[in-house]
Amino acid sequence: MADQRFLYLSQADVARVNLDMATVINLLEVAFREKGTGNVEMPPKPGVHTMPDAFIHAMPAYIPALKSAGIKWVSGYPENYLRKLPYISGLLILNDVETGIPYAVMDCAWITAYRTGAASALAAKYLARSDSKTAGILACGVQGRTNLEALKVLFPIRRVYAYDIIPEVQQRYVEEMSAKLGIEIIGVNEPKQAVVDSDLVITSGPILKHPLPTIRKDWLQPGAFGSAVDFDSYWNSDALFQMDRISTDDHAQFHYYKSVGYFQTTPDPYADLGEIVTGRKPGRLSPTERTLAMNLGLAMDDMAVAPEIYRRAKAMGIGTWLNL
Ligand SMILES: NC(=O)c1ccc[n+]([C@@H]2O[C@H](COP(=O)([O-])OP(=O)(O)OC[C@H]3O[C@@H](n4cnc5c(N)ncnc54)[C@H](O)[C@@H]3O)[C@@H](O)[C@H]2O)c1
Repeated sequence: MADQRFLYLSQADVARVNLDMATVINLLEVAFREKGTGNVEMPPKPGVHTMPDAFIHAMPAYIPALKSAGIKWVSGYPENYLRKLPYISGLLILNDVETGIPYAVMDCAWITAYRTGAASALAAKYLARSDSKTAGILACGVQGRTNLEALKVLFPIRRVYAYDIIPEVQQRYVEEMSAKLGIEIIGVNEPKQAVVDSDLVITSGPILKHPLPTIRKDWLQPGAFGSAVDFDSYWNSDALFQMDRISTDDHAQFHYYKSVGYFQTTPDPYADLGEIVTGRKPGRLSPTERTLAMNLGLAMDDMAVAPEIYRRAKAMGIGTWLNL
């Protein structure tokens, strides 16, 4: 084993690879098609919990069609912002599917940010109106950025309403994202203003086991689509029960979280994204339905994207080769 080497990719290395969002969305669609036909191995994620509302999760998956196997070891600490540290951090390991030998270790912040945005956009592709032009972003952090970037790939977005509890964070988002995406972004003072006029609504605040939800019945308009990146933390049950259809990314994971105390007032999803992408369950059926994606984040999402990052990094000469 002495000369077995693996590629280490730091956070800056992964960012330099700069994989485009359209490719990330396409890779996720391949993975969900494979999942929908039963061709993905993905045990439920075990975790340890060192602080209230915090987690460190182990997320393994194998996608044969993409020759991808590996694990993400990822933490989420809602109070980290008080220490000026990121909410999400962790590492991802890729293993050779024929020998099991690890060939890459990479920081997982970029991949978590981008694949989660891509999963919202993929759900929106099937559950939102294709002519959706306005978006509401509630919580202007990492996910608020990548979710909007992903929606912009698939929808003709003209105007965005952005809300964050910290006004300076909201203002920075408005400036940075309007410059980056070339669209009008309006900062709003109340969460409701980011929902009522939006065809696409993303909520991406902290995930809380005992949430203090904000969005109420009738805020989301008929025909609009929501993606709850922060589980049910932002949505009141009256708003959730008003949905015509709620999807998730994996039924087993949804029921696992329910068994440990989340989603106590959320209706069970009618379909997962694999069932929708493969056509076994329908997506949106009429222009007036209210639809919501409740993607919890899957190991498979990461393993769909990581080998492509590795391949491009290797080709671009990015990263550090280390001995096992
Ligand atoms: N479902 C998934 O697959 C998945 C994947 C990654 C992250 N997440 C979740 O997404 C959420 C956001 O993660 P992030 O990396 O963007 O974190 P972040 O720290 O970058 O951003 C969170 C933002 O929320 C704001 N905020 C806090 N409370 C708010 C409220 N009530 N209303 C509006 N804004 C509020 C903060 O000011 C901050 O700007 C977390 O809950 C994280 O666990 C989900």
